[in-house]
Amino acid sequence: MKDISTEPYKGVRDFYPEDMSTQNYLFGKMRKVAESFGYNEYGASVLEPAELYRAKSGEEIVNEQTYTFTDRGERQVTLRPEMTPTVARMVAAKKQELAFPLRWYSIPNLFRYEKPQRGRVREHWQLNVDIFGCVGAEAEIEIISMASQIMREFGLKDADFEIRLNSRKIMNYILNDLMSLDEETAHKISKLIDKKQKISKQDFDLSIEEVIPGKATEFLTLINSKNFEEFVAKLPKSQEVVEKIDELKEVMARLEKLGITNTVFDQTLMRGLDYYDGIVFEVFDKNPENSRAVFGGGRYDNLLSIFGGEKVPAVGFGMGDVVIKNILETYKILPAYKPEAELYICVMKKDYYEYAQEIAQKLREDGVKVAIDFSGRKIGDQIKTADKQKIPNIICIGEDEMKSGQFKVKNLKSGEEKAATLETLKSCVK
Ligand code: HAM
Repeated sequence: MKDISTEPYKGVRDFYPEDMSTQNYLFGKMRKVAESFGYNEYGASVLEPAELYRAKSGEEIVNEQTYTFTDRGERQVTLRPEMTPTVARMVAAKKQELAFPLRWYSIPNLFRYEKPQRGRVREHWQLNVDIFGCVGAEAEIEIISMASQIMREFGLKDADFEIRLNSRKIMNYILNDLMSLDEETAHKISKLIDKKQKISKQDFDLSIEEVIPGKATEFLTLINSKNFEEFVAKLPKSQEVVEKIDELKEVMARLEKLGITNTVFDQTLMRGLDYYDGIVFEVFDKNPENSRAVFGGGRYDNLLSIFGGEKVPAVGFGMGDVVIKNILETYKILPAYKPEAELYICVMKKDYYEYAQEIAQKLREDGVKVAIDFSGRKIGDQIKTADKQKIPNIICIGEDEMKSGQFKVKNLKSGEEKAATLETLKSCVK
């Protein structure tokens, strides 16, 4: 029989302790900021009925990216590719009992059948932060402020990243009213806009020409505007349009007042998911090494109506673990790995194991993290293990130590040695 491969399934990651420690660091910062804004954590199963995504997640996710299977009871089941439909389902299910506005967060693992590449894997973790029950721009401002605060919390400067904004209302107006496109054509164009950054200008222009031959020039001059002012100047000045533009301007101006000045308008920002219906945004590292969005989100006031009943206004974002890790590596601001054990007890002989365990127990009760070497190997080899595992301090237990209760604590990095008793050991390793 052929040996079974030790490789993980394509596009997913194993988390060895060093990777897990990084992951916990990322999650810790995400949690800290979400909770500082008063958001409460929720969770759900990775399994969902497949139909949950058919309504509004968008063709790309549903047809090309989901892991869907039929269970033993002939039900179509999907491994969740995103958390928004799940949280929407949960909120809709208890709408009568919940006290709005809800401020909820979660860090789920999500599954998407994508081509694995830098910043894209098949199982990723995503911080999801959503506020339900707020119709005003305060919701967008709070959600975008939190995204900015998370980047700062990781040690990034505002000059390092950019918050790109657009409005689905403006884009829908352009496609449906201004250009009078039917639903299918409008959908095709919005998917092309979504791909614009990934293809050449020539290919983009040609594809637009193919889909809307008579209207391509008008559309391209608009979509190729150099900035917000130029874009706005090309739109009609009707009250309807002015209102939509003002909404976006208000959010940007109020973020600026809060000290968030790294926002930019981007008329090519569509967001692939179909449920967004207001302001949408994405956060990008400015370093070209990381070309993928680290955050993506927006307003989706109509998603909850797929469950029947009244709609519930909602704004939120998803932030991916893979992209933020890449960014922190690029800026060299990921903290170095530290193992849990602060002290490693090397033991000269089997006869001293019991004593080593007693010491370890006392130290643990006192809050010191301790591991004992029970290998029976030479002391030199035991020390090598501690060093390889990056444990910072060791003590060795032999006859002298047992009799005297006096230890020598060695710091493996500096080589420094300190004399200690059981009472003073803690202060030597902390
Ligand atoms: P999304 O834009 O699909 O939005 O994903 C949000 C973020 O998750 C991306 O910007 C990226 O950092 C990360 N991400 C997505 N797919 C992958 C992947 N295959 N590998 C690694 N990272 C990935 C949503 O999922 C929305 N449901 C977010 C949301 C929450 N909107 C409102 N509330």
